[in-house]
Amino acid sequence: LYFLPCHFIILWKARKTMKLKCAVLGATGVVGQYFLKLLAGHPFFTVAAVCASDARNGQRLGDIRPHTAEGIPPEFADLRFDAMDVSILAKKEVKLVFSALPADIAKDFEKQAAMQGIHVFSNASSYRMDADVPILIPEINHDHLQLAKAQLKCRPGFIITNANCTSTGLALALLPIASMHIKKLIIASYQAISGAGYPGVAALDISGNVIPHIEGEEAKVRKECAKIFGRAQTDHIIAADWQIYAHCVRGPTLYGHLVSMHVEVDNPCSLEELRRLYANFAQPKEIAGLPTAPDKPLIVRKEPNRPQPALDVWAGSPAQAAGMAVSVGKLEVEGNVIRLVSLSHNLVRGAAGGSVLNAELALREKLL
Ligand SMILES: NC(=O)c1ccc[n+]([C@@H]2O[C@H](COP(=O)([O-])OP(=O)(O)OC[C@H]3O[C@@H](n4cnc5c(N)ncnc54)[C@H](OP(=O)(O)O)[C@@H]3O)[C@@H](O)[C@H]2O)c1
Repeated sequence: LYFLPCHFIILWKARKTMKLKCAVLGATGVVGQYFLKLLAGHPFFTVAAVCASDARNGQRLGDIRPHTAEGIPPEFADLRFDAMDVSILAKKEVKLVFSALPADIAKDFEKQAAMQGIHVFSNASSYRMDADVPILIPEINHDHLQLAKAQLKCRPGFIITNANCTSTGLALALLPIASMHIKKLIIASYQAISGAGYPGVAALDISGNVIPHIEGEEAKVRKECAKIFGRAQTDHIIAADWQIYAHCVRGPTLYGHLVSMHVEVDNPCSLEELRRLYANFAQPKEIAGLPTAPDKPLIVRKEPNRPQPALDVWAGSPAQAAGMAVSVGKLEVEGNVIRLVSLSHNLVRGAAGGSVLNAELALREKLL
């Protein structure tokens, strides 16, 4: 009788320290490799499987071309690529997948995974606009997580998406003023080459050049921002009624999407009030202590020539949250129009880091 409770406590402690097995889909790509970087040594998740296109099956992960400065994390280097087959992932006891697949491939595979009871944290656009799928940015809409609970009534696994890499940074930058009732938002983005994946845009097209077109991007920004700031109902979101206009432009930077915005709000506010709102903006309690959550989600730059991709793209602390903060600068007001510039790391906050933070929150909320 004495040993029984001790035994139970040991098992309970072991359960608490056991990491959940995950898979990275699209692990050869730029987003996939940022997943591997962020999941190396992660306290809650361990990578048990990696997948990419059929040509990779059986190949050793450590032998692929690296897309991060650190290269493939040694702890995963000996993994071999599995075929894209949910039954193989299930056999490996994978509980969740981090998806960095092209949208057309994600469309079939992510649904199959969810039907198999494997939860999906996706960067692909395939399901972002589905009524019961959240576009989760925990600082803004952690309550949208309830949509994942609604999905679980219809199938054993859920799909949670990230916003597009441009929408994420600009949405976070708007958060301190979102309660001022935004009427109209006009943005222009200056997006890095890595946003197009690998090999992405041809060097001869982008070197010393600017391309004022990114297929589908402007529509994504419009629709996603309205959903991100929408009101959560049990199984759908009522989108915000903002008028949103976007121009999205690819420039010759490597990492980091800069966005310049004009925001029309209901009532005029002073520059002092605006600066106070940004200076006082703090990390919400829902994400406090999560490994990938930045201590300060917004870094306000006072210099007139910041933020810049070359200087500010890795904003965010502690070390595990480097690249997770959004830098904001050039705060200005003219009547009821607010102007600002934001910068976010498209591969970290705008992609892999955003998904990992979403999974950490889902675990805290006992959805995993
Ligand atoms: N780059 C960004 O800043 C960013 C930000 C947010 C969201 N996203 C989204 O994230 C996803 C990945 O983007 P990325 O930039 O990492 O692209 P990427 O560098 O082109 O990587 C694409 C990945 O998908 C794999 N893949 C391609 N065809 C496949 C198939 N038929 N079956 C299985 N796997 C296949 C590739 O594997 P192989 O190497 O074997 O071909 C590679 O691992 C996309 O949906 C993108 O829109 C990207």
